Amino acid sequence: MKAAIIYTSITGNTSALAELIHEKMEEKGITADLIPVEEFHKHHFHEYDIMAVGTYSWDNGEIPLEMEEVYEAFETEDVKKLATGVFGTGDSFYPYYCGAVDLFRDMLYVHTNLAVTLKVELTPQDEDIIRCEKFCDRLISEVAVVS
Ligand SMILES: Cc1cc2nc3c(=O)[nH]c(=O)nc-3n(C[C@H](O)[C@H](O)[C@H](O)COP(=O)(O)O)c2cc1C
Repeated sequence: MKAAIIYTSITGNTSALAELIHEKMEEKGITADLIPVEEFHKHHFHEYDIMAVGTYSWDNGEIPLEMEEVYEAFETEDVKKLATGVFGTGDSFYPYYCGAVDLFRDMLYVHTNLAVTLKVELTPQDEDIIRCEKFCDRLISEVAVVS
C-alpha cells in the first residue's frame, strides 16, 4: 500500500501538518511520499492507493491558485476508486474557515473514494497529532475495505 501526500504551503503551517501525516503513515507501515504541488503529475494517480491533499485557504475561503491544476486533474481523470483525504490549515478569524478544505471535500466526494477530512487552526499543536493518526487510520481502512 502506497500513499501520496500532495500539499501546498506558504508560511509553513500546512507543510508542518503534511509532515505529521507523513510521519504517522510511515509509523503505520505505509510507504508515503510527500509531494509539493509543483511536483504533482497526473501519472501519480496510477502509482498510489491513497492520496491525501493538503491546502491552506485564501481570499474568502478559496483554493490557492497553485492547487487548481490538481483540483481539475481529480475532476477529469478516472480516480473513482482512489482513497482520498483532504487536510488543511486555516484561521478561524476569517468567515470561511478552511474553505479550501470544504471545496476539495465536495469535489473529492463526487470523483473519488473520499475517506476523511482534517482542519487545523494555523500551526499543528500536540493535540493535533492524534487527529493526524486518526486521519491516516481512516484512509488505510478504506483501502483495506475496497481491496
Ligand atoms: C490574505 C489572507 C487570506 C486568508 N483567508 C483565509 C480564509 O478565507 N479562510 C481561512 O480559514 N484562512 C485564511 N487565511 C489563513 C491561512 O489559510 C492560514 O494562515 C494558513 O495556516 C496558512 O497556511 P500555510 O502556513 O501553509 O501557508 C488567510 C490568510 C491570509 C494572509
